[in-house]
Amino acid sequence: MAKRSRLVGFGGFLPERVVTNEELATRLATSDEWIRTRTGITQRHVAGPEDTATSMGTRAAQRALEYAGLSAQDIDVVLVATSTPDQAFPATAVRIQAALGMTHGFGFDIAAACSGFIFALATADSFIRSGQVRNALVIGSEVYSRIVDWEDRGTCVLFGDGAGAVVVSATDESDSHGILSTHLHSDGTTGDLLYVDGAVGQPEKSGHLKMSGRDVFRHAVAKLSSSVDEALNAEGLTYADVDWLVPHQANIRIIEGVAKKLSLPAERVVVTVDRHANTSAASIPLALDEAVRDGRIQKGELVLMEALGGGLTWGSVLVRL
Ligand code: ACO
Repeated sequence: MAKRSRLVGFGGFLPERVVTNEELATRLATSDEWIRTRTGITQRHVAGPEDTATSMGTRAAQRALEYAGLSAQDIDVVLVATSTPDQAFPATAVRIQAALGMTHGFGFDIAAACSGFIFALATADSFIRSGQVRNALVIGSEVYSRIVDWEDRGTCVLFGDGAGAVVVSATDESDSHGILSTHLHSDGTTGDLLYVDGAVGQPEKSGHLKMSGRDVFRHAVAKLSSSVDEALNAEGLTYADVDWLVPHQANIRIIEGVAKKLSLPAERVVVTVDRHANTSAASIPLALDEAVRDGRIQKGELVLMEALGGGLTWGSVLVRL
């Protein structure tokens, strides 16, 4: 029988250290007022020396497995969305497999910047629908504190570190719960709007994140708006059918722009950007974990996730929990 993917476990991990806007203002020409009014951010978690994409992703994965009532032995594939892996290889996913005690199945990383979790969840959905995989661990884990230029006030104030994970399991297509549709896009001609200057294969570069903030903002509002329409049209649904928006957490003004388009009241939008800042590929699973665990999002509700990131990459996942 044809398969559908159901989200059955949720987990998150945030490093202990919290850096407030006020603390940043002691070292940079910025202020809490500037950061808050333009982005909604008040604080971010920052990795300690022991925290990496692997260690944080492993903790989030363990919590998601516990929620699902499954063990690592039940997992067939580990997919990790990250732009900040511990090493060029082995992949973070493979390192997490080892940390979880798995020597079976397979794992690989997905590089789609802030849209990474959407890309990874769509990949897991395809594996499950094809019948190749029964249970997937999908993780977003990022340490942007190691790629931002802490002297560039235009970018460093926007980001934070953390990891989030979901367990996705196969169910029969007749089940009304599960992923209804996924839509992915990328356009490399806009790559110079948001990028990291260099990597291990390219010497003599800074390795820092660079961004044209205004252009990214403009693209985000336009592309995320059309993503929302694309996701709902594909299922013959309308804005009124959406119970929850769980967006990538880059900037409260971008989030509010999409919510307004959907006519969704603020209490139907999951927001963590105020406390987490932008944790890139980790932001959606962290937000999902928070809202499922505190009882806001209930079984059977329709959840729309969307993201845009460096590439540019963008996309959506529509799921009935
Ligand atoms: N504190 C104080 N002043 C600052 C700071 C800061 N942290 N950063 C920049 N400024 C100054 C600039 O130097 C500039 O000063 P000037 O006018 O004297 O030259 C002034 O503030 C305005 O700068 P802009 O960059 O034009 O400010 P803008 O109003 O566009 O806001 C922001 C910048 C918040 C980055 C906005 O463009 C934005 O949110 N863009 C979206 C980008 C984003 O969210 N990226 C995340 C990654 S992509 C993603 O996840 C979707």
